[in-house]
Amino acid sequence: MTVMENNNLNNGNDTLCGDKDYFYVTTPIYYVNDKPHIGHAYSTVIADSIARFKRISGYRVFFLTGTDEHGLKIEKEANLRGIAPKELADSVHIKFKELFSELNISYDRFIRTTDADHINTVRSAFEKLLKSGDIYLSEFEGWYCTPCETFLTEKSLMEGKCPQCGRQAVKIKEESYFLKLDKYEKKLLDYIAGNPSFIKPDFRKNEVLSFVNEGLKNLSISRTSFKWGIPVPGNDKHVIYVWFDALLNYLTGLGYNDFNNGKNPDFIPFFKSANHIVGKDILRFHAVYWPIMLFALGLEPPKVVMAHGWWLTDGKKMSKSLGNVVDPLSLINKFGADALRYYLLSEITLGLDGDFNIDNFVLRYNSGLANDLGNLVSRTSAMLNKYNRGIIPGAVISEDEVILESARTILKSLSDRYDDYNFAKILEEIFAFINIINKYINDSAPWKLNIDEPDEKENLLKILKTAAVSIYYISYLIYPFMPETSGKINVTLNVIPFDSVGFLANPKDMADECKELFKDERRISEKSEILFPRIKLEE
Ligand code: MSP
Repeated sequence: MTVMENNNLNNGNDTLCGDKDYFYVTTPIYYVNDKPHIGHAYSTVIADSIARFKRISGYRVFFLTGTDEHGLKIEKEANLRGIAPKELADSVHIKFKELFSELNISYDRFIRTTDADHINTVRSAFEKLLKSGDIYLSEFEGWYCTPCETFLTEKSLMEGKCPQCGRQAVKIKEESYFLKLDKYEKKLLDYIAGNPSFIKPDFRKNEVLSFVNEGLKNLSISRTSFKWGIPVPGNDKHVIYVWFDALLNYLTGLGYNDFNNGKNPDFIPFFKSANHIVGKDILRFHAVYWPIMLFALGLEPPKVVMAHGWWLTDGKKMSKSLGNVVDPLSLINKFGADALRYYLLSEITLGLDGDFNIDNFVLRYNSGLANDLGNLVSRTSAMLNKYNRGIIPGAVISEDEVILESARTILKSLSDRYDDYNFAKILEEIFAFINIINKYINDSAPWKLNIDEPDEKENLLKILKTAAVSIYYISYLIYPFMPETSGKINVTLNVIPFDSVGFLANPKDMADECKELFKDERRISEKSEILFPRIKLEE
């Protein structure tokens, strides 16, 4: 079956069946107190890349992103601007949508916590847990960090400041509803022990375990001192704590209300496959509070919580108050979406922090994208045009197997590397392969061959075919990370983009695919655009 014909999601491959062919991926939902920066772009690009990979591998994917619109932080920002919180949310959520459109984020739903179905989810979950006794009314006295929307223990304060963001914590004392955490402590520890890949990367697990092992205190989940939130059903003096509200977006997005009405058979298999992409600062909410909320609701925790590191500028986390944020849109305007996606995903190993440095960005752009990848595609198309009337030779000419074997080696470990979120390694291997072909072309110097000599002509055609098929492999391999560039390469090769294919990324399927696709002579597009024009550092 060729790419042209293959629009079938599950290619009849028996490793994809039952619950296994579902893949649910989420980003954190972003606060709407300010416009997005590259930290937000980062979480979203990670989720987009794995969603695209799973889609082209034949999975049924649901990809959720959105905005977190309630809470004191948003109310305060709206007051500062002299507008209503909803008005602020309406204008800022658009900025996230615009950025995601520029970045080619292939989400299935953009959820807002002010959406009616979400408010429904939150109220019904609250009522259910109130009825079951997992939520109860009492009084809260303690410390709170508004920028992080987090309750803090006295012990954790650093000279009265939040240990996470360093800003002043405030003391609050008010009537509050609480969620029972202690009741589920043992169950959570068992879940973590029984599911070794629940928290990724592995080194983050200890941090979660030591927090739980200190003993979980019941969590305050309502506030009475401000108004911007979902009112507690039956007691609208209280609004529901923003994190209780926010985490439930992962259920609303999958159609929890329909599921509760017996109408959504896909809900459980999707949720069982859930991969939450989060920053390390919000791991505790996802790996401790969220599983407990799910236990209380009678559901199982997500499959994976993947905690990535932070982008720093000069060693400090980017934040509005420090004035050190990098604007993703200006980078996209200058370098293109794929250049930003490439840099974010290849520069740091997922889980670790990295310093964002524009000189380094330009260097990586010029060497990896303009010189290696861009040049390979343009020289291949130029050679095909010059030596073979723009035609990729058909089945009579076979590719150089040694070269293609290096691409197939990447495919062998691809699926596991994706499951480990080892994107930097995959990209390193793809770029190593790009250099192998560049070297192969340099060493075999097709421009020196004499077309009028039958042996040399055959050799020349073999080089051209090998380069063209290699580029097809590359286009496939880069598609999840750089979808726009992959699409442009496919246009050059005159094959359809990878958006709708559904075959597994294994060497055999890929080899069959290529055999079919390049069986007949194929004319490439007449003009191929320069993928990544070189940039001068001074610019
Ligand atoms: N609203 C909550 C998430 C609720 S999810 C149920 C929130 N929002 S946030 O806008 O503050 O952050 C969203 C994500 O962006 C987090 O995963 C956070 O780690 C990430 N980043 C924010 N700044 C970052 C960097 N400087 N670098 C990398 N990611 C960081 O938390």
